[in-house]
Amino acid sequence: MNQTPMPSILHKPEFSQAELVQLLNASGDEEKALFSYASEVKQQHVGNTVYLRGLIEFSNICEKNCYYCGIRRDNTSTHRYCLTNGEVLEAIRFAHENGFGSVAIQSGELSSDAFIRKIDFILKEAMRMTNREIGITLSCGEQSEEVYRRWFESGAGRYLLRIESSSEELYYKIHPKDETHSFTKRLNALEALKKTGYQTGTGVMIGLPFQTAGHLASDLLFMKQFDIDMCGMGPYIEHTQTPLYKNRSELIPLQERFALSLKMVALLRILMPDINIAATTALQSIEKNGREKALCVGANVLMPNITPKQYRDDYFLYQNKPVSQQSNEDDLRFLEQQLKNIGHEIGYFKQGNSKHYRK
Ligand code: 5AD
Ligand code: SF4
Repeated sequence: MNQTPMPSILHKPEFSQAELVQLLNASGDEEKALFSYASEVKQQHVGNTVYLRGLIEFSNICEKNCYYCGIRRDNTSTHRYCLTNGEVLEAIRFAHENGFGSVAIQSGELSSDAFIRKIDFILKEAMRMTNREIGITLSCGEQSEEVYRRWFESGAGRYLLRIESSSEELYYKIHPKDETHSFTKRLNALEALKKTGYQTGTGVMIGLPFQTAGHLASDLLFMKQFDIDMCGMGPYIEHTQTPLYKNRSELIPLQERFALSLKMVALLRILMPDINIAATTALQSIEKNGREKALCVGANVLMPNITPKQYRDDYFLYQNKPVSQQSNEDDLRFLEQQLKNIGHEIGYFKQGNSKHYRK
């Protein structure tokens, strides 16, 4: 076996790009050492409490045309929907009553006044209804600074905007190169979120065609340098009705994408010990207990889907997205047991703000 001095690299305060590449390529005992160190760092800094964000898939109507995404504008075989205010508020009430502490409202990207006003109304109602007890994360894409400020003032405290890839070159291989999909605009939007005062989150897809370990190492360094408060990242999973599907033969196998995703989570935990890291649904679509595995190597946030059931099949970003047949209450009890089995507990009735942000 290749005996690289893994532990000595692991315990360094900073990693170089080359060291990160080496760690991303780790397997066998080296990989185990990485996971166990990341788990130690997690225990020390954020403990074994898992914070819940009730995930509300608000709408699958999107103005963008990202090459990888199943709800892209040009996919005409998707049935489009948008939840009513009542449906969103009902989901928020469920989350609040069941001790979720916070929700995440995720949506296809829209810039219309009607969309902006609707989100604003929901935020204000949610704050009123829960006496400001519920934390709200928005994931509604690129908006103007003014819109970000308006939503922040209406009650959203966190915003997740994935950079998807921090390499401009790779970004334009997975997005059309035009005004609507500008890499610079995406970076500026992230800056604007931070400036507005949000706990700011980003993330990338892992195992994209054309992507190397070098790209992923740079993604980790980007997140560190940008000083993010939270991260949601997961494996890329191809979708037949998207342009990137034609590159499927260039992909690494799903299991490798999964393993690489766990290593990304572990390394980010070591690099940024006190941020919030989500164990994402895409992990679960490759392995049934994929999210639990991510929690064991560094993640500390889970996002159970609480979208009204009749819409879930339509928020179809990638193949094999898991859709539970149980009630939300049953899902929660099941999750609680799963977490107990891996020595974790749910932080009920806690917003679970990023410790990094509070600092
Ligand atoms: N595979 C994995 N993740 C995807 N996303 C979109 N399409 C896919 C896919 N095919 C992710 C993107 C986006 C988030 C809403 O979903 O990272 O930011
Ligand atoms: Fe729209 Fe987001 Fe999908 Fe891109 S990734 S097409 S912005 S929903």
